[in-house]
Amino acid sequence: MTSKPEEVASPEVVTGKVVLSPAVCAEIDLWVAKYPPEHKQSAVMAALRIAQDDNGGWLSAAHLDAVAEYLSMPATTVSEVATFYSMYDLAPVGRHKVCVCTNISCMLRGSDEVMAHLTNRLGIEAGETTADGRFTLKEVECLGACVGAPAMQVGRTYHERLTPERIDRILDSLE
Ligand code: FES
Repeated sequence: MTSKPEEVASPEVVTGKVVLSPAVCAEIDLWVAKYPPEHKQSAVMAALRIAQDDNGGWLSAAHLDAVAEYLSMPATTVSEVATFYSMYDLAPVGRHKVCVCTNISCMLRGSDEVMAHLTNRLGIEAGETTADGRFTLKEVECLGACVGAPAMQVGRTYHERLTPERIDRILDSLE
């Protein structure tokens, strides 16, 4: 008779806390090394991005706490950073984040039409995720691509001089 192997709970399940993986810590350490040891908190934005990428594109409260602990900084400060910048998401997101700039240059060059086309095509409003989990639509501040307005960022890729046809081609090319 064979016995079922005992299931081993992950450290997170045991402690109720997110434990940053060795790979995540190693990547954060590369950023920490760019600053004097007494200013390792300066790596907080990179650390949040790395933890977010590792967690499917979003950060739980436990992730914020883990980053705070790793960088020896107050959890409230990490939370302030994570809630200020639109590149961090604090709830689960779709496979592709579609971030549309609606700041002044893009607004003057048609970001309203871009948003209208996307909400219509995806069937969701800004801040929502499609039912199939493919897309999260976000309205963001200036992406620094004003010269190519109207612009949006999908994942790590910038797309500029958007038209409905270009948007459709971009979305069609994604899984
Ligand atoms: S205003 Fe849209 S990229 Fe700058």
